[in-house]
Amino acid sequence: FELRDFTVSASCPSNIALIKYWGKYSGQIPANPSISYTLNHCKTNTELEFIAGEGFSVQTFLAGKEELKFAEKIEKYFRSIEPYLPWILKGKYIIRTENTFPHSSGIASSASGFGAIAKCLMEVDEAFSGESGAEFKVNKASFLARLGSGSACRSLYEGLVVWGKTSEVDGSSDFFAVRYPDADIHPVFKNFNDWVLLIHEGEKSVSSTVGHGLMNTNPYAERRFQEAHENFTLLKEVLRNGDMEGFIKLVEHEALTLHAMMLMSEPAFILMKTGTLAVINKIWEFRKSTGLPLFFTLDAGANVHLLFPNNGSEGQIKEFIEAQLLQHTQNNGVVKDVMKF
Ligand code: PMV
Repeated sequence: FELRDFTVSASCPSNIALIKYWGKYSGQIPANPSISYTLNHCKTNTELEFIAGEGFSVQTFLAGKEELKFAEKIEKYFRSIEPYLPWILKGKYIIRTENTFPHSSGIASSASGFGAIAKCLMEVDEAFSGESGAEFKVNKASFLARLGSGSACRSLYEGLVVWGKTSEVDGSSDFFAVRYPDADIHPVFKNFNDWVLLIHEGEKSVSSTVGHGLMNTNPYAERRFQEAHENFTLLKEVLRNGDMEGFIKLVEHEALTLHAMMLMSEPAFILMKTGTLAVINKIWEFRKSTGLPLFFTLDAGANVHLLFPNNGSEGQIKEFIEAQLLQHTQNNGVVKDVMKF
């Protein structure tokens, strides 16, 4: 192939897992299958400039500001994917990236970030390798994103997305994500709402890399991996028949299990804050008193993802957030901000 200069750009959304990926084997192979919703309202936009023939180096800009740490991370990542993109170390890179959600919000941007970079790389690869085809490109982008950050591989597709081999989903793989079959999703579970309640900003005390690693010595790990498989079987039925109650039970259980695994790690760590627990209790009270299907999931952090279907309840939910969750002088709310993902 003949190398030449390129400037490509791509946009990629983030995602939130319903069945969680927590624990992995070498080669970024997940210990259990996971499924997520792709979030439409928050994206990373990336422009990648490739200057062929110059010595390999990476320069990165985040929202216009040069980021040396990020460049180091990307450089390491590019070296690791050379077996799959033989041209990748044969030039210099200038990468400009920005998120459509607040930078300091404490919301992980690695899924959308690696998703966008992988998409850019596949644009360049198509020109160099001559291999094309929309399906090939998106599957390989998902494969490459996985090697950057596991959960990123699920951001390459819209809607419900599965990563990890499970007998419940045809064509599922540990190496890249696939879309959950649309025909098996009840209409109520399409176009779900995800609002993030910001409780804590800033760096997490324990990174997800370290968290995954601690599953290797967690005495409950094997049971957890088995349970994730069992939950997939349950979820498949729930998604097919529109069983909202079953969905809520499963999704909240998964979120709490993720954090329970952290509590049972050695050493133990806690990423929830007191505000996280306060909000969970408020959500439970609200659901009990109104009967509305409002529930939560959690990422590896303190912020709460508020989930609810498109059923006209948005106004009532806004009022609830305003009156009981948001920080005011009149109450002791713990939520600093609400972001529609
Ligand atoms: O993609 P990573 O390595 O940052 O792991 C993220 C894991 C969770 O977000 C906690 C769960 C998931 O499945 O996305």
